[in-house]
Amino acid sequence: MIRLALIPGDGIGFEVMDSAKRVLDTVSRTYGVSFTTTELDWSCERYHRDGAMMPDDGLDVLAQHDAILLGAVGWPGVPDHVSLWGLLIPIRRAFGQYVNLRPMRIFEGVPAPVRPEVAEGTDFVVVRENSEGEYSQVGGRIGQGPSEVALQESTFSRIGIERIAEYAMTVAESRRGRVHSATKSNGIIHTMTFWDQVVDEVAVRHPAVTVLREHVDAMAARMVMRPTDFDVVVASNLFGDILSDLAAAVCGSIGIAPSANLAPDGPGPSMFEPVHGSAPDIAGRGLANPIGMLWSVALMLEHLQLPEPATDLMTAIEAALKDPRTRTADLGGTASTNDVTAFVTAQLTGVAR
Ligand code: NAI
Ligand code: MG
Repeated sequence: MIRLALIPGDGIGFEVMDSAKRVLDTVSRTYGVSFTTTELDWSCERYHRDGAMMPDDGLDVLAQHDAILLGAVGWPGVPDHVSLWGLLIPIRRAFGQYVNLRPMRIFEGVPAPVRPEVAEGTDFVVVRENSEGEYSQVGGRIGQGPSEVALQESTFSRIGIERIAEYAMTVAESRRGRVHSATKSNGIIHTMTFWDQVVDEVAVRHPAVTVLREHVDAMAARMVMRPTDFDVVVASNLFGDILSDLAAAVCGSIGIAPSANLAPDGPGPSMFEPVHGSAPDIAGRGLANPIGMLWSVALMLEHLQLPEPATDLMTAIEAALKDPRTRTADLGGTASTNDVTAFVTAQLTGVAR
């Protein structure tokens, strides 16, 4: 029995979670896997009602599960830093989810904003540091009026850089053996030079991997001009966040991008969620692309050692993206969230038969 915690969150988080639940039901029926699910209403709505994104014992509740699936959190009226620091960041940090894995590729048939001859064959993964870096609580404000000053510290630890670099290089060893490390050590002279140094030290232990260092601005340009150059990108929390949205855009839409918050050294559980947010501009209208969520479900199934349904789900996703009739508006199609979900579940049942 696999225990899953489900957090739909806000906005289209609900819609894509509904899609995930239908796919999990299908997986359960088709492959004889049993899931028990705990649905948690932790959200901005809860914040308005109870004054907190999650209850005091929220992390203890999650700890009783094998994996967490999250839709998206954030809603106008609640500042974004409240929803992020009240839920996502505590979960990522409490459970040791120091890897944020964000795969991206060009799918057959999906119209990409870059020319097809440039984009074709793009297939890489962003390994984003998920526990420290630029997203820190250290800092504050002093003074008022024209003399007001804000300070925000970044934290980069040797252990933090070492373990994310190690993870990225191990991933590269199972792929095409190439790691691009995002830096900015020309301008950010303390933390980023440290990042470069530790990444180089880890690289020595992985002679089969080619490690290329690039300033993040140049890397952003490369991602648009020559996206096929990348195999594995390793980046700090902030750089990885930005580069992975860019990667998704280059490949067609942020609506298809998945992510896994992994706790390789425990205590876990790990958490799976689409890269996109709650999209208030389209929420409640059945327009959300569920593929980012469903690809996240595939990553979760893989993580839970269920390779067969994971592979079959990816095949179903590829089939949905190939056909304009099962593409949502963000990909130039007319399909609803429900159309895509119905197609994927039917496909899954068919593939396994
Ligand atoms: P967003 O990802 O919600 O939306 C950006 C744009 O992409 C919007 O035009 C939206 O309609 C579109 N979009 C996003 N997902 C889509 C999907 N599945 N299908 C079709 N179109 C899609 O980012 P935004 O607007 O910056 O943030 C909105 C709220 O979400 C904010 O409160 C923010 O804090 C929160 N957020 C939460 C995240 C999380 O829970 N992990 C991640 C990013 C943002
Ligand atoms: Mg982001």
